[in-house]
Amino acid sequence: MTEVNFQRHRRLRRTAGIRQMVRETTLHTDDLIYPIFVKEQGTDKTEVPSMPGVYQFPIDQVNEEVDEVVNLGIPSIILFGVPNHKDHEGTSAFDEKGIVQRATRQIKDRHPELTVIADTCLCQFTDHGHCGVIEDGEILNDPSLDLLAKTAVSQAQAGADIIAPSNMMDGFVAAIRQGLDEAGFKNIPIMSYAVKYASAFYGPFRDAAHSSPSFGDRKTYQMDPANRSEALREAQSDIEEGADFLIVKPALSYLDILRELKDRHPYPLVAYNVSGEYSMIKGAAIQGWIDEQAVVMEKLTSMKRAGADLILTYFAKDVAKWLNQ
Ligand code: PBG
Repeated sequence: MTEVNFQRHRRLRRTAGIRQMVRETTLHTDDLIYPIFVKEQGTDKTEVPSMPGVYQFPIDQVNEEVDEVVNLGIPSIILFGVPNHKDHEGTSAFDEKGIVQRATRQIKDRHPELTVIADTCLCQFTDHGHCGVIEDGEILNDPSLDLLAKTAVSQAQAGADIIAPSNMMDGFVAAIRQGLDEAGFKNIPIMSYAVKYASAFYGPFRDAAHSSPSFGDRKTYQMDPANRSEALREAQSDIEEGADFLIVKPALSYLDILRELKDRHPYPLVAYNVSGEYSMIKGAAIQGWIDEQAVVMEKLTSMKRAGADLILTYFAKDVAKWLNQ
């Protein structure tokens, strides 16, 4: 045979051992953040219909879930509250006896070493379901900031280790940083939902958190999925305002944005693998159409390859089990 010159890429794929040696991206249990929904109402956990395997927990039953998370070696959780009481200003978001505050105290008492992240937003707590204050049908920016800062402070007082504001008002990082500093929480980091798109992939979450807007949509504060430069500006301003971590949300359709932020900003970067991304895989897996474990591992690995340091995912417990096998 005549000699042709080409590269033998397959040499490095020949055995499982070699493939492992040259693998560039690895998923660890340490990368995972597990979301937990805590509800004020009722005494039994309830499964979210559009998210099989995901539950809302009453405070009396949340310990069991958190114990499991800790035993699996998952280092952090993020709490979402489902309150009884909703009003115009979302006052139960910053009530010291609010559901998130109570759950945080209880969990930190039991597991001081577990990192508890508080999602800081108003939409689950307002009667109109928007993430800010409303006047004449408009979502007002600046008056919302005070409420968000108050919410963050009350969460830090309850023992939250990290504050994760997801509301997408302008200036929320600056306002929350100032609020935390003034209340004596200079050392509590902010994990900002810096780049959050107005995404249809949040559908199942809104079932889980009862947080659908009662009118309109979130397009005047969350970003247009078509935009890239704007994502860079959002991340830049959050860093200038004092963000310690940056979140890109959703993850799957925005891997390009993850890569760009990682290349530009030397900050811990979080991919939020959102509810709709979870439900699509679950739905297909339940039908027997895909191999759930293989698909989940491939998806999460691609998020890390794109630049994520951490992954916030409803699959965290499953992934930890698979990694521990
Ligand atoms: C609250 C919030 C939302 C999500 C996280 N925090 C919903 C929204 O913006 O409507 C979505 C998470 C998910 O879909 O998993 N602002």
